[in-house]
Amino acid sequence: MATISYRNATIKLDENSYDPAEDSFLLADAAVEHTKDGSRVLEIGTGTGFVSAVLRANRNVNLIATEINPHAASCARSNGIEVIRTDMFAGLRKGNIFDIIIFNPPYLPTSEEEKVPGWLNYAFDGGIDGRDAIGSFLNKACSYLAPGGTVMLLISSLTGIGEVRKEMEGQGFQTDIVASARCPFEELVVVKASMHNLHKK
Ligand SMILES: C[S@@+](CC[C@H](N)C(=O)[O-])C[C@H]1O[C@@H](n2cnc3c(N)ncnc32)[C@H](O)[C@@H]1O
Repeated sequence: MATISYRNATIKLDENSYDPAEDSFLLADAAVEHTKDGSRVLEIGTGTGFVSAVLRANRNVNLIATEINPHAASCARSNGIEVIRTDMFAGLRKGNIFDIIIFNPPYLPTSEEEKVPGWLNYAFDGGIDGRDAIGSFLNKACSYLAPGGTVMLLISSLTGIGEVRKEMEGQGFQTDIVASARCPFEELVVVKASMHNLHKK
């Protein structure tokens, strides 16, 4: 079985799950840097569990993840991650709140012809403008954030960095780019977003 080792974590891979790539590394590094010991962390779309496993190997956090692809959910469990197999936040207990919510979403603009067969399509398919999954995520994320909590979202220049930040700011988040990497066809960034007046309305 193929494995990947990174920052004190060794993660088993799976042929029906997203192989950790530059986006996963960038988000994992940013998550380690911006997460304090003792934080309650939720990762949406954990895939093999790579980002969560790296975070747990480097920070003492209380972490749970969700994943829609059943093969990826099993793979992440085999990597020691507690995973709820569900769509976004749907399977979480009511009242569950988190200090950090992490998401490396399917962010590629994808036409009907570009879809890949099977569950793996969920790893890539961001809809026509690349922002479908991000929109669904942002509609729900603040209901699961603790006061002063933050969202860490990986996006690409192909998704429209300005457009996504505008959407986040329209929902009341303050956004900052806290990490970036140039890849052959795109720039990847991690947006860190917080909502200071959360739950005070
Ligand atoms: C780009 S991959 C990232 C995987 C992993 N977090 C990483 O960084 O290596 C996106 C992941 O989100 C999952 N996903 C997509 N839509 C989802 C949804 N509605 N609910 C839960 N997970 C979803 C996909 O199955 C895939 O595992």
